Amino acid sequence: MRIPVGILGATGEVGQKFVLNLQEHPWFEIVGLYASKRSAGRTYGKALNYGEETSRWFCAGEPKRDILDIQVGNVDEPDEGIDLFFSALPSEAALDVEGKIAKKKPVISTASAYRYFDDSFVFLPGVNESHAGMIKIQRERRGWKGFVVPQPNCTTIGLAMSLKPIYADFGLRRVIMVSMQAVSGAGYEAVGKWAEQRKIQGIELPRPLEEFIPNTFEGNVIPHIPKEEEKVKRETLKLLGEFDGERIKQASFQIACKCNRVPVLEGHTESVFIETERKCGVNELKESWRKYRGEAQRLNLPSASPHPIVVKDEVDRPQPRFDANTEGGMCVVIGGVESNVFENGFQYTVLSHNTELGAAKGAVLAAEYLLKTGWI
Ligand SMILES: NC(=O)c1ccc[n+]([C@@H]2O[C@H](COP(=O)([O-])OP(=O)(O)OC[C@H]3O[C@@H](n4cnc5c(N)ncnc54)[C@H](OP(=O)(O)O)[C@@H]3O)[C@@H](O)[C@H]2O)c1
Repeated sequence: MRIPVGILGATGEVGQKFVLNLQEHPWFEIVGLYASKRSAGRTYGKALNYGEETSRWFCAGEPKRDILDIQVGNVDEPDEGIDLFFSALPSEAALDVEGKIAKKKPVISTASAYRYFDDSFVFLPGVNESHAGMIKIQRERRGWKGFVVPQPNCTTIGLAMSLKPIYADFGLRRVIMVSMQAVSGAGYEAVGKWAEQRKIQGIELPRPLEEFIPNTFEGNVIPHIPKEEEKVKRETLKLLGEFDGERIKQASFQIACKCNRVPVLEGHTESVFIETERKCGVNELKESWRKYRGEAQRLNLPSASPHPIVVKDEVDRPQPRFDANTEGGMCVVIGGVESNVFENGFQYTVLSHNTELGAAKGAVLAAEYLLKTGWI
């Protein structure tokens, strides 16, 4: 029998990906879909205007008929019969809703609300399975029967996964990252706005400046994403830190980053500059990434990709249009690996899918791991 699961924030961009990744899952069965008061009380199909010109369904795959017919519930009144919740709520709503549900049931979340408490951890299968013991501490401290396990920020994922084997094999002194992040990382309203801007701007170039509105996505780069850089730095050091049975001791290397929004639909691309502790060469770095496997691969979990990291030898790859969906969007793709002028210095490009590994499918993989290892 499959485990009955509910999706919180099911009508949003990440929520829709949860639907696609769970509707035929061998271990989980969708029995509840929840969103804001705007959508509650209507069928999932009606809440999304599915099939109409004003449709809010963004994904390439299709939801099944029986899913479209489920009546969307209010997140404040989840069904008692559900044993596991996946959350794709905005962080402000997630703090209260996820906390209430976790008193009784496990919640795997893509929101940031529970990422930074002393009794919580961000979970990225392939990077920090050893931190799962924090669940016991969270339950004891809060008196919860369930738990909240948040995923890292989608921008942290490519960076942290790429650093994991390098940190273990050669050590790290310094890391600098510059991101080029997809519009879909900002939610379904942002994707809708971008589509509008593309219609208005058309194909003619150049357009007079007065026709642009500030912070437009199309034909532009926005060099600031609120709170993103702080999240990436904190989460990367936490993910690569050590769990001593009571707390997570952060990794000790220095890290700086700068985040940019670019007119790309899916896939966060990052330029990364590192200095390793120990001397190594480009081929050793590539070998370290290529041979790396995580617990998700060892346990052969349903959503695991064959490789957590794919390395390309071309200097002009990865590119989000062509490489974001490598191995179902569940691995990170690295390319353009070169040494540079700094001592033990290297640079590379890493790409990860922000709404697959970086959100819904990554959260489903986390749930598979926690189920397989007895935490759920
Ligand atoms: N997009 C990404 O690439 C990405 C990646 C990783 C993590 N995340 C995180 O995942 C979460 C969801 O992101 P998203 O991009 O899917 O956002 P989104 O497209 O804006 O969807 C938000 C969802 O939450 C519901 N909602 C909004 N306010 C609510 C409230 N006050 N009470 C209850 N439900 C509410 C919405 O329901 P209605 O349709 O009824 O308004 C919708 O279902 C966020 O925390 C985000 O930071 C996103």
